[in-house]
Amino acid sequence: MILIKDAYVIDPAQPYEGPAELLIEQGRIRQFAPKGRLRRPPKAQVVEAQGLWVLPGLIDMHTHLREPGFEHKETIKTGTLAALRGGFTTVCAMANTNPVNDNAGITEFILRKAQAEGHAKVLPVGAISKGQKGQELAEMALMKDAGCVAFSDDGHPVQSALLMRRALEYAAGLDTLVITHAEDPALSEGGVMNEGLLALRMGLRGIPAQAEAVAVFRDLALAALTGGRLHVAHVSTAEAVNLIRQGKDRGLRISAETCPHYFSLTEEAVEGYNTNAKVNPPLRTEKDLQAIREALRDGTLDVIATDHAPHAPEEKAQQFDQAPSGASGLETALALSFALVREEVLTPMQMVEKFTTNPARVLGIEPPALREGAEANLVIFDPERAWTVNPREFLSKGKNTPFEGKELQGQVVATVFRGDLRKWL
Ligand code: DOR
Ligand code: ZN
Repeated sequence: MILIKDAYVIDPAQPYEGPAELLIEQGRIRQFAPKGRLRRPPKAQVVEAQGLWVLPGLIDMHTHLREPGFEHKETIKTGTLAALRGGFTTVCAMANTNPVNDNAGITEFILRKAQAEGHAKVLPVGAISKGQKGQELAEMALMKDAGCVAFSDDGHPVQSALLMRRALEYAAGLDTLVITHAEDPALSEGGVMNEGLLALRMGLRGIPAQAEAVAVFRDLALAALTGGRLHVAHVSTAEAVNLIRQGKDRGLRISAETCPHYFSLTEEAVEGYNTNAKVNPPLRTEKDLQAIREALRDGTLDVIATDHAPHAPEEKAQQFDQAPSGASGLETALALSFALVREEVLTPMQMVEKFTTNPARVLGIEPPALREGAEANLVIFDPERAWTVNPREFLSKGKNTPFEGKELQGQVVATVFRGDLRKWL
């Protein structure tokens, strides 16, 4: 039994924001007392949460757990532990593993492994195409039955508009979600950073913003054609934001996410050939960053996802154009997002929605909630605590962060997953 006293609860599912006490028993929330005082049960472990926020366990819609096949970068065990450290109790595992999660056997392997070794709930995302090769559709129906919550070739764009059309048609029939990694491969070919003056100065080939916009436009058109549910992953540009906003105004069944690096950093972070700031899509310009913040504020961007993309140190130590793209994101996402609250871009409630009820709605799963009877998944967050990002302290194997040495405010103090309390500080 765990009694959380004097907490400040922010729960978009009820919705409720205010003081409360919670009692956790046998993995569930037994009592929730808004403004109230619970009688202290004699055997309860008491957590004094004065000055701390208690939120429902966060969902990360976009996590690369790397297992099977790239266990030197991350495993289901280490990735879910990093998730828990960051306040996430549910992660969606992207399909670009080896072998690719393109059949029910791999999906079942991931779920079994997560059940046995995982520290958080894992929801597999199946590949759209076999081997993510963009040629043939994967067995979406069988994979959905096996437990996939969405379908994506993330890591690779779906080059063929026809294949994407078919995927959205099947998705409509199965009432499942297609997540698009929106990149026109012809426009981005050979590119390693944002296209512009800085790329020119650094002697690197750029990826134009239009590589994203062209792909978003195509996939919105296909969503309209098919009625399939479409979610746009890791939005990085003002152009894409505008297209998504227009699509929503037209009533399309679409949703979209961005990641903390796109609202915290610009292309300047790659100066000095910093491979830890090499991500795909690339970091963009100040104008894009501002457009993304505005889109989070006005709801055009529904979700904040990490795109947690761990890589081994020796891989990131290569020359800039050789190094793989991606940043380890699970353990910095909440503090980076909390900066938007401090800067009054988002209210606390809006921020929590983008990590809980909104991804749940997009995925069509039960939203995490601090209701009586609900599974006890929650995060205890100290909004006052300042800390410095030190990747050597990450529980993720991926130490590749562009935020190394950065001072952040707001830290996860403890996470409860299925009633188990993990204290981090
Ligand atoms: O930066 C990225 N890394 N973007 C992707 O789309 C894939 C990911 C990865 O798998 O490393
Ligand atoms: Zn991607």
